[in-house]
Amino acid sequence: SVQRILVTGGAGYIGSHTAKLLRSRGLEPIVYDNLATGNRVSVRWGPFIHGDVLDTVHLARTITQQKPAAIIHFAASAYVGESVKEPSKYYRNNVAGTLSLLDACLQAGVDKIIFSSSCATYGVPAVLPIAETTPQVPINPYGKTKLIAEHMLADYAAAFGLRYVALRYFNACGADPEGELGEWHDPETHLIPRALLAAAGRIERLDVFGDDYDTADGTCVRDYIHVSDLAWAHVLAYEHLVRGGDNIAVNLGTGHGSSVLEILETIDRVTGHSVPIAIHPRRAGDPPALYADPHLARATLGFSPQYSDLETIVRTAARFFGLEAQP
Ligand code: UFG
Repeated sequence: SVQRILVTGGAGYIGSHTAKLLRSRGLEPIVYDNLATGNRVSVRWGPFIHGDVLDTVHLARTITQQKPAAIIHFAASAYVGESVKEPSKYYRNNVAGTLSLLDACLQAGVDKIIFSSSCATYGVPAVLPIAETTPQVPINPYGKTKLIAEHMLADYAAAFGLRYVALRYFNACGADPEGELGEWHDPETHLIPRALLAAAGRIERLDVFGDDYDTADGTCVRDYIHVSDLAWAHVLAYEHLVRGGDNIAVNLGTGHGSSVLEILETIDRVTGHSVPIAIHPRRAGDPPALYADPHLARATLGFSPQYSDLETIVRTAARFFGLEAQP
């Protein structure tokens, strides 16, 4: 019979892209989501169960009934700015939510978890690129909650034999190359969708948060990784656990940083629409530059990005926003 994978947060941006890829690999994604930020229409590749990860009883019952071979745990709150203003929400959803999931796994006898972590766990690194050995010193509640969850995984592994892969995403972006899914947050705070909204005239302009950083063009540098590449890494992480691979925490990035202005230039070139901008002061808590050392994910999972060149990122994202690419 077909192997099931329980996907918490599978109605969200990265979760829905992952569910689609799981299905294409002959696995059945069972999406468990409270729809607080996810979209029901993004659940199209397997059953949907409406539920909250904080509801340990419902979660344990679901796991016992569905008997998934593994759990991929996306469900979390993920706005850095909001986490500063509303830490309670982040400690509840991300820390207590993961604790609830771990206890439900123990009760129901599932021993494989793939966890969505973040480069936000590193804070402002002293050295670039960021390797997994770089000290994790998060500078906001969001990053702290993801780091605490990583520690919980390690402690449950030591105590109970839980097996896990923690995936530290750099900047997720882009959209399903077949145009079936995309990035759809409310409010949308991320650079590429906001820039595309501005290019399409659906918002007045993009505010560029700082052009006086100590970077090549003065704007912040990030490691943009296509959502379908991220999704694929979850399939690889599952296969790693199935073949008895070690518990690991790995970066998912390209190893290459791009500036805000480089992103805007790519949008201009690919869509033929220029992005109207206004230069703003720096946004609190933004490190000048973040990019991954991607070698460990390649060595352990065989991960290598296929869609993460800026042109493909912008082309796929623009299509989802109804902006046609230039021929
Ligand atoms: N930016 C702008 N204008 C905008 C939005 C963003 O100039 O309207 C700039 C930011 O200052 C930053 C870059 O574009 O330099 C990317 O910003 P995003 O908000 O798209 O993403 P972040 O780099 O802030 O991502 C962070 C962490 C991730 C975390 C994510 C959660 O790096 O680890 O927030 O949403 F997961």
